[in-house]
Amino acid sequence: MDNLASEQKQIPHNLPVSPQPFVDREKEIREVTQALLDPYIPLVTVTGIGGIGKTALAQEVAHRLLEQGQFAGGICWLDCWGSDNTLDAILRTIQTTLGLGGTPVVREEVRRYLRTNPCLLVLDGYDAVAQDMELLAFLERMPEPSKALLTSRQDIRLHGWTLALDSLTKQDAVRLFVEAAERHEVEVPSEQNPLVAEICRLVDGVPMAIQLAAAQAASMSLDTLRQRIAQVGLKVPSLEATLRQSYSRLSERAKALFRRLAVFIDGADDKAVENVCQVEGWREAWSELVRFALVREQNRCYSLRAAIQPFALKLLEEAGEREKYEERAAEYFLALAQFGESKLDTDEADIGIAIARNKRGNMLAGQEWYWVHERWEEVIAYGYALDRLLDVAGFWEDRLKVLQRAVEASKRKGDAGEQARLLHNLAILHHELGDYAVALGYYQESLAAFREADDRFNQASALNNLGSTYHVLGQMEKALECYQQALAIWEKQLGPEHPQVAVAVNNLGSVLRDLGDLAGARPYYERALA
Ligand SMILES: Nc1ncnc2c1ncn2[C@@H]1O[C@H](COP(=O)(O)OP(=O)(O)OP(=O)(O)O)[C@@H](O)[C@H]1O
Ligand SMILES: [Mg+2]
Repeated sequence: MDNLASEQKQIPHNLPVSPQPFVDREKEIREVTQALLDPYIPLVTVTGIGGIGKTALAQEVAHRLLEQGQFAGGICWLDCWGSDNTLDAILRTIQTTLGLGGTPVVREEVRRYLRTNPCLLVLDGYDAVAQDMELLAFLERMPEPSKALLTSRQDIRLHGWTLALDSLTKQDAVRLFVEAAERHEVEVPSEQNPLVAEICRLVDGVPMAIQLAAAQAASMSLDTLRQRIAQVGLKVPSLEATLRQSYSRLSERAKALFRRLAVFIDGADDKAVENVCQVEGWREAWSELVRFALVREQNRCYSLRAAIQPFALKLLEEAGEREKYEERAAEYFLALAQFGESKLDTDEADIGIAIARNKRGNMLAGQEWYWVHERWEEVIAYGYALDRLLDVAGFWEDRLKVLQRAVEASKRKGDAGEQARLLHNLAILHHELGDYAVALGYYQESLAAFREADDRFNQASALNNLGSTYHVLGQMEKALECYQQALAIWEKQLGPEHPQVAVAVNNLGSVLRDLGDLAGARPYYERALA
């Protein structure tokens, strides 16, 4: 006994824990187990309609084999409906589960291990990857003595042995119904068994349907339930009801993780989940959510399934946590935006660009959160960081919205200096977008504000930029005037040698040239070049 237990501990595996006790199917379990232990059968497939219990059976078989110490090389569970289900991703899961060391995936190494150590690979929901020829080739050359167990709705006819899973027997169906009803706090006295059997017959003995029927027994008598199903069929519960049922079966920490993930607009990476959600051991909680098909992972980006997000947000609200976790997310993504922005002028600019591309939704939502909560300072901070990040990543419309928000926030905050700087940025953006008339308005507004704040340097910047907008519009006299004023201020403030002065000088020269005044332009060009 001791011996067996210690052996068992050493067998590496990643089998999911069944959320509920398994009911019978002894005959099928025996058949599948025998096939898997038969040295002449490389692949075993379980087929059957959705909800018939393929996954549940595969889990039960795998757990029993583990307990018996079979497949000492390891048992690896692969959810083919999971997001990353290419052969490489599958091999990576096998590598990590069996402890073969990390990346890169070395196919030959995995093969060698499977050849020298008997392993069981369970591919649940094989339909999802049935088109993958590479994977198929891999499975068909499954190295002995390792085995693969597949579950699939379609009969895929791979070589090996197939079990077509059928409805539960009457007796098993009744047991499943009674156990499921108990989970909904409904006691079914044994004299009602014939009634239960009749209900199970009406839903064709399909476990999934039996469970749904049992859940409905919580709100009506069994007799009414039977009549309803006979007349109108099984009422399929709303998505929310189904989700609530799944949610109620989760551990406390998986529940917490599930509802807190709702604060992410376009998913989150490890760091974001860790920092924002505050769930200890969140990875285990995550695998629980994976088992309930509530979440997805793609390239290490963790997210709720889209249809589920609103429901999770509702739960977050019900738990009284919405405010807190949305704030944490807004704060986290503000720091990230600022970090990304700080990289833009370095040789790690691609980090900033990647942040802009991948976290845009979360960052925009963060600014929005601060906006709704009238936290002007943070709205402005987001404005500055996102202005540059979204610029390099080319998201013009978002950039415009973000800046407008920031300008508005600076107005409400009553900070004239800030407002002038942001108006200036907004003007630059409109100029870049080719909305020159709008840009002019903002430049003038910002110029007035800089004058009021007595910010000489930025006054000159605004004049210089205003000049270039006039220049593009062909209003040369005005352009000239602006450039001259900018030059005068900078020269006085920074001295004649400063590069900023050279910029203004050069601009002046080009206006004069465009005006046809080549003689006038020459000294400016010569000066700019000096
Ligand atoms: N023998 C059983 N004992 C207890 N519960 C079962 C049994 N068979 C199935 N169930 C339950 O019925 C539901 C549907 O089963 P399962 O998910 O295994 O179906 P499936 O055939 O894998 O469906 P799909 O094709 O959608 O993947 C699950 O909640 C499962 O736990
Ligand atoms: Mg399944």
